[in-house]
Amino acid sequence: MKIKFYGHAALGIQMKDLYILVDPFITGNDKASNIDINTLKADYILVTHAHQDHILDVEAIAKRTGAVIISNFEIVTHFQNKGLEGHPMNHGGSWDFEFGNLKYVNAIHTSSFPDGSYGGQPGGFIIEGEHKTIYIAGDTALTMDMKLIPMQTKLDLAILPIGDNFTMGIEDAILASDFIECDKILGYHYDTFGYIEINHEDAKRKFFDKGKDLMLLEIGEQIEL
Ligand code: NI
Ligand code: MN
Repeated sequence: MKIKFYGHAALGIQMKDLYILVDPFITGNDKASNIDINTLKADYILVTHAHQDHILDVEAIAKRTGAVIISNFEIVTHFQNKGLEGHPMNHGGSWDFEFGNLKYVNAIHTSSFPDGSYGGQPGGFIIEGEHKTIYIAGDTALTMDMKLIPMQTKLDLAILPIGDNFTMGIEDAILASDFIECDKILGYHYDTFGYIEINHEDAKRKFFDKGKDLMLLEIGEQIEL
């Protein structure tokens, strides 16, 4: 499983020659100007919630690639009404896709579309495939629901928001790492705008001091599990 960071909360995951994009917000992110959305491959697009900084480029990429959009029922219906392909889910549900198993799990946040219309409830994803399991938390507060995850799954990596203000900050993300019993963390949802700027070295040191590893990738950088 390869995971590439496209800035903010946007990720590209490659499994079994399938390309999965997560929360593509690229053309609106000045820091991601090195990424051209017209070159991105996508068989699936996962959307955690309806906020602009997670859905901005979904329509353009799905139109070009024919990717199947996976999200909550309301978000998928919104895109199906525009003629795009989708697979609706809701919290607690899982499905075997061609890339592997995906579960839609709880997140504590909000989920309105940019025009204020209802975007369902926000979520996160647990993806299992190629003998690896990852958790993409989405925008969320620290929540006791995270303790349910290790009761069923052994995570190899967790992708957690760390920018504070709109989501968990560093201290809560460290607690989340305890709750999910995963010490290997990829941070996201930081630095994109003023409210969520963080000190990278300080953040990494705080994780390190608890025996955990916080990875912060450059935009366009990739890791392999
Ligand atoms: Ni949000
Ligand atoms: Mn967000």
